[in-house]
Amino acid sequence: MQISYGVPEETGVSIVRKVFSQYQTGHSIFADKNILLPEYVPDDILHREAEMEQLTHMLAPVLKGYSPNNIFIYGPVGTGKTITTKFVLKELFDIVKKNKKIGLIYINCKMKRVSDTEYRLLAQMLREFGVKVPDTGLSTNVLHRRLEMTAEDKKTIVVLDEVDTLIQKIGDGFLYSMLRAAGNMSLIGITNNLTWQNGLDMRVVSSLAQEEIVFKKYNANQLYDILKTRAEKAFDIKVSDSVISKCAALAAQEHGDARRALTLLKTAGELADRDGAPNIDESYVDAAEGKMNSDRVIESLKGQPRQAQAVFASILELSQKARTGAWKDDRVLSGDVYAKYRDFCRIAKMRELTQRRVCDLVKEIESLGMIETNVVSHGRHGRKTEIRISVDNSLLNKAKLILAEAGFV
Ligand SMILES: Nc1ncnc2c1ncn2[C@@H]1O[C@H](COP(=O)(O)OP(=O)(O)O)[C@@H](O)[C@H]1O
Ligand SMILES: [Mg+2]
Repeated sequence: MQISYGVPEETGVSIVRKVFSQYQTGHSIFADKNILLPEYVPDDILHREAEMEQLTHMLAPVLKGYSPNNIFIYGPVGTGKTITTKFVLKELFDIVKKNKKIGLIYINCKMKRVSDTEYRLLAQMLREFGVKVPDTGLSTNVLHRRLEMTAEDKKTIVVLDEVDTLIQKIGDGFLYSMLRAAGNMSLIGITNNLTWQNGLDMRVVSSLAQEEIVFKKYNANQLYDILKTRAEKAFDIKVSDSVISKCAALAAQEHGDARRALTLLKTAGELADRDGAPNIDESYVDAAEGKMNSDRVIESLKGQPRQAQAVFASILELSQKARTGAWKDDRVLSGDVYAKYRDFCRIAKMRELTQRRVCDLVKEIESLGMIETNVVSHGRHGRKTEIRISVDNSLLNKAKLILAEAGFV
């Protein structure tokens, strides 16, 4: 008789090799996955005819040597602002290529190292004009003057995409001086932030928004069309209408975000591929949605301040104790959480917040979807808040990693 020592048939190495080789030789339902990436520029843009026409009319005067008005474009994330603007600009570029009297500059202010200081932004703009600028060393005044000189004999259209992040980083003084100096420059500011005007210098607001274009959410039918056109190119198989409709419907519920719709379809395809499935069925869309939601929860936990992470770590530790305790219950009381939180603060040498503030943080964690709270009456002991973890184990394990990295648990 052979004795088994519990060695599994598949070792780690053999699994790795198998997966790689299956990937190399196996069939994929994708023809070209990149077509579903947000960076991909499609041949045409659907359902944005009115916005494209508006923008084209506003920019057209440049072809006769006039400076277009400054334009402000806003609307929720994923509504096609960036792609529409780039598209119109590209058509314009194709016409004016050889015309030395027209300059076009596109800057995404969210990019690190491009717009986190006034110096970097000015340097980037000059570089777009083909002027060499050292990384440091000159004064911003010198750069401003160089920019004016370079742009002097041209009409220049400058797109500042996600301009609210620029204002966050360097304030609105830059825009103010630029708008004043900009005889020959027209600005197009784009933002997802619908309250971008709040707190800004009114002179900046009125001169930046001489013209406005508002991008509305896509509805499910529009998202369906966008997805369908892309899916035809991205996949090697015919993706069923029900799958595309489902992605469109889910993204329509979430502020009509085309990027989310595309990512949902791409993720569903990847999950199907991983199973070696011949096609995507609706269950893969559900799975993709679950995965994207949990990715989002994890991202927001990562982005939380240490104080909130400490509160969550306290809840986690207490609820695990409670679950394995005599009552096999995973509810914990907010008063106990506060005591545990103070222990954490002492260990981590962190400032202790008041119980009220910690209650606020508990509410914030609840809004991320990681816990549920419930106020219950405890007879003559008054009312107490019960807290319970509401995410599944795989998500919880990822959360623990983040808390461990932050020095808790
Ligand atoms: N009307 C459209 N037709 C085709 N693709 C679109 C359309 N609108 C958005 N997309 C795609 O959706 C994604 C998000 O669009 P984007 O322009 O970046 O949105 P915003 O700038 O408003 O956040 C991009 O990948 C883009 O290719
Ligand atoms: Mg954008």
